[in-house]
Amino acid sequence: MDNKNMPIGFFDSGVGGLSVLKEALKIMPNEDYIYFGDSKNAPYGMKSAKEVRDLTFKAVEILLDKGVKGVAIACNTATSAAVSELRKVYPDLPLVGIEPALKPAVELNNEGDILIMATAMTLKEEKFKRLMERYKERASIIPVPCPGLMEFIEEGKFQGEEIENYLLEKINTYKKDKIAAIVLGCTHYPFIKETLINIVGKDVDIIDGGLGTAKELKRRLNDKRLLTDSVNKGKVEIINSSNKKESVELSYRLLMGD
Ligand code: DGL
Repeated sequence: MDNKNMPIGFFDSGVGGLSVLKEALKIMPNEDYIYFGDSKNAPYGMKSAKEVRDLTFKAVEILLDKGVKGVAIACNTATSAAVSELRKVYPDLPLVGIEPALKPAVELNNEGDILIMATAMTLKEEKFKRLMERYKERASIIPVPCPGLMEFIEEGKFQGEEIENYLLEKINTYKKDKIAAIVLGCTHYPFIKETLINIVGKDVDIIDGGLGTAKELKRRLNDKRLLTDSVNKGKVEIINSSNKKESVELSYRLLMGD
């Protein structure tokens, strides 16, 4: 097959990266995609950086074996642990990662604190520290580690008392009128955005990096003349390391939902 008509690989620790794939489908609808979710080994956020790096390398190999022309690491945690190593090992591969979308949040210039919701690992890693460093003069940035939150989404729970209580406990510490914006620094969290809005109100800006990452992926593929020339809508194949058929079913549901 012509290189440009090979599929694009997407990877996340579970179903979260589908929030990024959804954005990619909007701007590159004619591409084919293979999505690999590693739900069997999730959550990544509580593992060591080395464990996450090894799992991420394995996932990229799985996608490359399937013949992908480029890879999106649609997981903030895996990106912080592995993306620079991956670039060294695969220098010619169009590869994008995702990091908490702090820049657009700072550029809103809203009064108050910017809350960054992410996994404990993302917030602990060097990559995030450098990001904070870049913006700390311009904004008050508060990292909010959310252990246990991605598990709700992996179980297909997006609303209800349990998740509301979880979010209330996280957010209630901060006065609503003092929140400048909330950055969803984990690709699972856009799926509970509506529930979060119910808690903080619709006037708080809630930002994620899905579209920015999809645009960066498109740019990198275009630079290598690797965008498809197909005029037909592409297809999405979803694979998941967990043997449960529910994980794949949930993935298609998340992809179809609006
Ligand atoms: N979806 C992942 C992220 O963007 C993390 C979830 C996890 O495995 O802990 O960080």
